[in-house]
Amino acid sequence: MATTVLVVDDDPNIQRVLTFTLKQEGFEVRLASDGAAAVAAVAETVPDMALVDVSLPDIDGFEVVTQIRAAESGGRRMPIILLSAEGNVSDRVRGLRAGADDDILKPFHPSELIARVRALLARTGQLPTARETEARTLGRLAVFYGAKGGVGTTTIAINTAIALARDHGRLVGLVDANLQFGDHRVFLDLPLDNKSMVNAFAEAELDVDLLRSMLVPHASGIQMLLGPSNPESGDIVVEAHHQNPRVLAHLFGLLRRISDITLVDMSKSIDDFNLHLFDAADVIYVVLTADLSCLKNVQLVLKTMDNLGYPHAKVKMVLNRSSAYTGIRVENAEEVLGRPIDYQIINEYRGAISALNSGSPFMVSKPEGPLGKSVSSFASAVDQDMVASAATRAQT
Ligand SMILES: Nc1ncnc2c1ncn2[C@@H]1O[C@H](COP(=O)(O)OP(=O)(O)OP(=O)(O)O)[C@@H](O)[C@H]1O
Ligand SMILES: [Mg+2]
Repeated sequence: MATTVLVVDDDPNIQRVLTFTLKQEGFEVRLASDGAAAVAAVAETVPDMALVDVSLPDIDGFEVVTQIRAAESGGRRMPIILLSAEGNVSDRVRGLRAGADDDILKPFHPSELIARVRALLARTGQLPTARETEARTLGRLAVFYGAKGGVGTTTIAINTAIALARDHGRLVGLVDANLQFGDHRVFLDLPLDNKSMVNAFAEAELDVDLLRSMLVPHASGIQMLLGPSNPESGDIVVEAHHQNPRVLAHLFGLLRRISDITLVDMSKSIDDFNLHLFDAADVIYVVLTADLSCLKNVQLVLKTMDNLGYPHAKVKMVLNRSSAYTGIRVENAEEVLGRPIDYQIINEYRGAISALNSGSPFMVSKPEGPLGKSVSSFASAVDQDMVASAATRAQT
């Protein structure tokens, strides 16, 4: 049985990040949003351990720990880690006096939290075996390829990733593989100094734990591997890939182990790096708009995919801004391409651009708007594609 961790925190963002991180490690997660709910949850069934935030809307975390300890009997002592906002010594002493076993200061990196959780479980003789903690992920890889610049590939990849995590409870990884001009930092308002693809390619012995320390958690619950912060660093990745093409396959192998679905936002060029990405993918989503130059590019891309011997089911057509007037209707586009458009996403320029410029994706700030709903239903289709792909893989 999986080790159960009770997370006691009223902040939904922290709840999401902790749930994602712990589930990735194979832990089962229970949530309580206030002190009374936490004490009641422990009285009902004692979890294997608890993470308790110090500031809660009703009683504080110290009081929660005191009440839990008071109710314990029979020599059983549940390990508890307090999450506190400041490095205040008297608070730490207070927490330990109340009966906490350890404390961790916010903000913390997910890999630090997991290390502390494991250390405490090991100390109390409850460390689950490696087998137990090997999370069973769906392990799928979906790449998003824009047939032309500016068709909305990044917009779709980011918002779909968020919908998959929120609506489908998936562990989602998002990779910015646009090595020269990756812009996930802009879309999500992140600083330049985060770890990125460059670190992943520089690490000779990349493993799950190291990779995890390079992922940047977003409040929506997704984990991101950012792109290089400038074109020169992008060149370093390309060079590392030329030296050893196996690194990319290894990286995606690790990502499959820690995420149900990894989404990759690709650049437009058809080069060696991108061909490796196409090969690694379970499904390639080709993003297009209904204009002639884009359709011409899609024709060329489809020909390349055919030459590579990919089955039709591996390549899906996503028509973005489908409701915009371009003089070319969906049927016309299908006729030109000689195959059906699989998915459509509506046009809502204001919604898309204001989300971009505010650094908050519309799937977070306006999920109920027309564009949010349109991408949500696309995400549901992606989820089904991923489940189907996993089933096919299991049969072979
Ligand atoms: N469904 C949509 N409706 C209206 N506008 C959209 C839609 N999707 C994307 N856009 C807008 O199109 C522009 C380009 O989007 P985005 O950066 O996601 O495209 P891209 O294909 O990733 O571009 P690049 O080639 O620069 O990587 C942005 O201004 C975005 O707000
Ligand atoms: Mg882009």
